[in-house]
This record gives sequence, structure tokens and C-alpha cells, in this order.
Amino acid sequence: MTKKLFIKTWGCQMNLYDSVRMADVLAPLGYTCVETAEDADLVVLNTCHIREKASEKLFSELGRLRALKDARKARGGGMILAVAGCVAQAEGAEILRRAPFVDAVLGPQSYHRLPEMVARAVRGGGGVLETDLVAEEKFDALPEESSTSGPSAFLTVQEGCDKFCTFCVVPYTRGAEFSRPPADVLREARGLARRGVHEITLLGQNVNAYHAEGAKSTGGGAFGLGDLIRMVAGIEGIERLRYTTSHPRDMDDGLLAAHAEVPELMPFVHLPVQSGSDRVLAAMNRRYSVADYLRAVGRLRAARPGIALSGDFIVGFPGETDADFQDTLDLVREAGYAQAYSFKYSPRPGTPAWALEDQVPDAVKSARLQALQDLLSKQQRAFNAAAVGRTMPVLLEGRGRHPGQLTGRSPYMQAVSLAAEAHRCGDIVDVLIVEALPNSLAGRLTEAPAAVA
Ligand code: SAH
Ligand code: SF4
Ligand code: F3S
Repeated sequence: MTKKLFIKTWGCQMNLYDSVRMADVLAPLGYTCVETAEDADLVVLNTCHIREKASEKLFSELGRLRALKDARKARGGGMILAVAGCVAQAEGAEILRRAPFVDAVLGPQSYHRLPEMVARAVRGGGGVLETDLVAEEKFDALPEESSTSGPSAFLTVQEGCDKFCTFCVVPYTRGAEFSRPPADVLREARGLARRGVHEITLLGQNVNAYHAEGAKSTGGGAFGLGDLIRMVAGIEGIERLRYTTSHPRDMDDGLLAAHAEVPELMPFVHLPVQSGSDRVLAAMNRRYSVADYLRAVGRLRAARPGIALSGDFIVGFPGETDADFQDTLDLVREAGYAQAYSFKYSPRPGTPAWALEDQVPDAVKSARLQALQDLLSKQQRAFNAAAVGRTMPVLLEGRGRHPGQLTGRSPYMQAVSLAAEAHRCGDIVDVLIVEALPNSLAGRLTEAPAAVA
């Protein structure tokens, strides 16, 4: 008998990957994914704890689901409610206290326990909590084949973080840094290729800290992300590789060499800097200076001319002055971004920065965020405008907004829409860019040879 599973996902790409894996682990129990919670037998909320607003979303969603659950019960049915992800890890017991109608709460390293937890919930007996933080056991226990669909897929190769930036919850919600063995990654990547995947994004909270114990790099040193990229790029059918998120401290020679030498590795890198002030960077415990960051960007650009840069920024970290913020704007002007994410600092209970006294007023944070986003979007528009007239290889991923239209991604992660027949989904085609829109590009199919910088 098939049962309906609805998974709602918030947060980063790692949560998107985890949601696919949770569906995989539940498939043998007869669960298939549906698009709404309304008539689901099992609802999983995969949550994010990174900023205050992200966490709040869980409790408002739970209120709505409680009504659905009650209504189903009144009709003689049932709905199992599970909370997963980083809020589950951070606030597990509190969730069961505030929302006793929740059946299961499980942290990011416990997803292999989901079938057992669901079975317990079906038998009844109150909410259960699983918040162990050992990543290794999970990866060993998850099914080999993934049910991912579409030509582009995520693959988590590294989890957790030992860096302890003073603003960040990730070391507490995801646990210690852990790298999956290269053979496991290779097996999973081959499985994706067999399912028709052409692009893989290697994921990790600190993906460029990836290291394989005991394995030797071709260069002789430790086996790092650059070696992993070469290995996965060798798989038949895998034509594009990306990785995210990387830390500026871990940009090693092996990874730079991969950018220079591996054509499958796309010319786009997400390298969050957070702030352009050395004083603020030190208070954040980022352990690099603005000069170090700019050096890393310079080395990337030397390795792969034309590489596009993306980043993350936090404005209003405790003690950030106007002068510090001006330094951030200066850094943006100097580094030049194709695209970026920026956030107001959000104090997270339990992190060192939460207890700092010189918190920045919200109105000041808002004004700084606005100024930063104005500059970043100006840079993004200029980057997109520069694509007009160029021909680029585009991986067609799905239907566009209008009939007869498909959308895909340029090597630089820009969304591109064009007229093409639906059966071409999954192809990499040469597209002449004809127009730059605020958040995407419009193009048309061309026979001209593609030019990737
Ligand atoms: N490991 C990555 C970041 C992962 S979290 C790195 O070190 O760069 C994703 C982004 O969320 C961060 O880059 C940061 O910009 C933002 N972020 C994390 N904690 C935050 C907080 N407390 N307030 C506001 N933004 C935050
Ligand atoms: Fe968070 Fe810093 Fe680790 Fe990134 S490096 S996940 S910001 S603690
Ligand atoms: Fe959020 Fe956890 Fe990812 S806090 S950003 S879902 S690692």
C-alpha cells in the first residue's frame, strides 16, 4: 500500500539534499512524495536555525499542521508529524514541549533512524527525540541509490564545522567536521550519472575543508577537494561540477589547480567573506584578513580567468561601526561579485556573539543592508548585462514560465530562459544571450561554438 509523504524544506542546499535522502530511506516503507500536506500520511518539516526568522517559521507551520492532523483524526485517519533539521537539533526537547502533537524530532545526523521512528509513531506512544551528532553512522546506513530527479543534483561530501565563527549555530546543529570516504562519494556520483544527472554540486558546510584520511593526492599531499573533483569529473556523463560552501581559509593549491585544469569544474565560486573590516572579521573569529581574502580571490582568478565570484555578507555584527561598514562596501567594489547573499546579523542564543553588549540597533542594520544590497545588485546587473551578445553552454533543467520555453543555467549560475522543445531537458546547448533581465537572462539556441571564459 502506498502512503503519502510531504516534506517541507527550509535552509541551505544541504537540507535540500537531506530531504531527498529522507524520501529515499522512507521509500521501502511504501511512502511516495506528494506536493501538499493536506492529505499526507507523514509530514516531515526539515528546518533551518541559522537566523531567528528561519527558526520562527517552524512554529507557525506547526500550528497549521496541527489543524490538519486534528481534521484527519476526526475523519478516522492519522497524520504523523516529524520535525527534522537544525531547529530539531538545537531545540528538540523544547519542540516536544511546545508542540506535544509532534510525533518525532530528529537532528541532521539521525535520518537513517527515520523508519524506526515512524514505526514507533504508528504504534503510538508519544513524541520521540533523536539528536545524536555522529555523521558517519548516517552515511553508512542510508540507501546507496538516490531518488533525485532532473539533470542537476546535490551530493553531500562533508558535514559539520569545527570553525566556530562567533555568530553561527552550525557547529552546534551539525556537529564536528566529517568527510565521507572518496569511494562512497564515487559510488553515489556514479549512481546519479546512471539516473541521467549531468551536473553535480558537491556540498559541505565547509566543503573545501574536505579531506580523506589515508588517501594520497596525485600531487603527493593529503587528498582534498581538488582530488575529489578530478575523480568525480572522470565519471562518464558528468559534464559539470560545482561545490559549495567554501571557507576562504581552505582554498588550497589542489583546489586552485582543479580550477585551472578540470574543464568540468564550472567557473563560478561561492566564497563568503562576511565583512570587509579586519576588526569585525577578528571578532567573528573568521581567522583571515581582508588582504587574505583578496589574495584568495586573486589566485582563483589567476587559475581560471573570468571566474565569477559569489559571497555572503553579514551587516550589523555587534560593535560594527559606520567605518567598518564602509570597509565592507570598499571590499565589494574591489572584489566584484556576480551575485551575493547579505543578511542582518541575527543574534543566536548560545553563540558567543549573542552575549556581546554592543548590539547594533535594527534601524542601523536595515540601512546598512539596503546600501549593501544596492551595490551588490548593481554589480549583478552589470555582470548579467556583460553576457548579452555572448554564446554560452546552458544546461537545460526544466520548463520555463511560458509555453514552449525551457530554463537552464549558464556556467556562472545565471538562470537562462529560451525557446526549446521539452525533450531537450537535460541537454547542454549553446545559447546566444540576447537580453539581461533583473534576475535572469534570455537567449536563443545557436549553432555557434560556445565560449566559456
Ligand atoms: N560555512 C559558510 C556559511 C554557512 S551559513 C561560511 O563559513 O561561509 C550561511 C550564511 O548565513 C553565512 O555565510 C552567513 O552569511 C549567514 N549567517 C550565519 N549565521 C548568521 C547570523 N547569526 N546572522 C546573520 N547571518 C548569518
Ligand atoms: Fe558557521 Fe563559520 Fe562554520 Fe561557516 S565556518 S558554518 S559561518 S561556524
Ligand atoms: Fe540552516 Fe542548518 Fe543549513 S542552520 S543553513 S539548515 S546547516
